[in-house]
Amino acid sequence: MSKQQIHCYLVEQSESKEIRSRLAKVQAPKLQEGDVLVRVECSSLNYKDAMAATGNPGIVKSFPHIPGIDAVGVVETSRDSRFEVGDQVIATGHELGVERWGAWASHVVAPSDWLVQLPAGLSAIEAMTLGTAGFTAAQCVAAIVDHGCKTDDGPIIVSGATGGVGSIAVMLLAHLGYQIVAVTGKQDRHAWLKEIGASEVTGRDSLDSDAKRPLLKGEFAAGIDTVGGKVLATMLKKIQHRGCVACCGVTGGAELPTTVFPFILRGVALYGIDSAWCPDDLRTDIWDRLATDWKLPRLLDAKVDLTLTTVDAAINAILEGKFAGRGVIRIAE
Ligand SMILES: NC(=O)c1ccc[n+]([C@@H]2O[C@H](COP(=O)([O-])OP(=O)(O)OC[C@H]3O[C@@H](n4cnc5c(N)ncnc54)[C@H](OP(=O)(O)O)[C@@H]3O)[C@@H](O)[C@H]2O)c1
Repeated sequence: MSKQQIHCYLVEQSESKEIRSRLAKVQAPKLQEGDVLVRVECSSLNYKDAMAATGNPGIVKSFPHIPGIDAVGVVETSRDSRFEVGDQVIATGHELGVERWGAWASHVVAPSDWLVQLPAGLSAIEAMTLGTAGFTAAQCVAAIVDHGCKTDDGPIIVSGATGGVGSIAVMLLAHLGYQIVAVTGKQDRHAWLKEIGASEVTGRDSLDSDAKRPLLKGEFAAGIDTVGGKVLATMLKKIQHRGCVACCGVTGGAELPTTVFPFILRGVALYGIDSAWCPDDLRTDIWDRLATDWKLPRLLDAKVDLTLTTVDAAINAILEGKFAGRGVIRIAE
């Protein structure tokens, strides 16, 4: 198996530390006990992939590197009895596309613990339209539902709403019957956000505030934040008594300039969401829900078709906050 050649999107660093990417053919890593070789059908474009594709040192630890934190594909070789040749599987998170070579390639080698079977109710394209972003959005929504927020408690606010996590969160919340206020920096995407389920759309400046007041009017039963920084801090001030916020992202900054008042005066709960190392039972449960009662009838409205030869423009757009929806990368035969 060590002779397996893989076609891939390869990120390299020159001696002068310049980052370059190209389509290349490389030798697949040798399979270790417990590894599975998957022929990739599709991958996706996440913010983290764009960081990896541009050699961000916070993500890529060694070169050459293959990005791609999401894969759906067919098992070609298995060193674990839980997976058989021909099984269709999903891999998201863990070290895929970060510490290990990822799925922007014809084949990927992954430890079997990183795989789940593709649920019967999802196609490969649907699974990658969801990908890590959809999986993370679903965990955010699950946090709000499990917190006890009911559909008549008040609207849910979602920041970074046109992004991968944000747009799937809007769709899922609408599917479950919640009212959603979508927050976006993209003036030209208000109508689209309403089409995918937002009841109301507001500009990013409504949350990007330096206001010193420790609390603002409690307008929202709960929130999903994909941005961080001042946006998350302002969102926390606007949550009703005993509401909650699920936070997962950092596109607007890693700082959290807040006070304790939303927590100690309103009993607001802040849930941190991590997708990469989500425990196996929860991971399987979330994918099963996304294939059944949380299956989104108009999911593919969020899909933007990409290939490894067209992904570069999309990488720049996502890093500049200009990309909307979910980039799905079909891997050519
Ligand atoms: N915790 C986890 O496990 C996990 C999993 C997946 C993603 N994430 C993180 O979640 C975040 C969103 O991921 P994604 O895949 O949805 O990314 P994305 O598709 O790039 O979406 C991010 C959205 O944030 C908004 N935004 C961008 N730059 C901004 C800025 N400077 N200030 C305020 N808003 C800004 C934009 O939406 P609008 O134009 O609509 O405002 C953008 O579309 C990223 O930080 C990602 O790393 C974390």
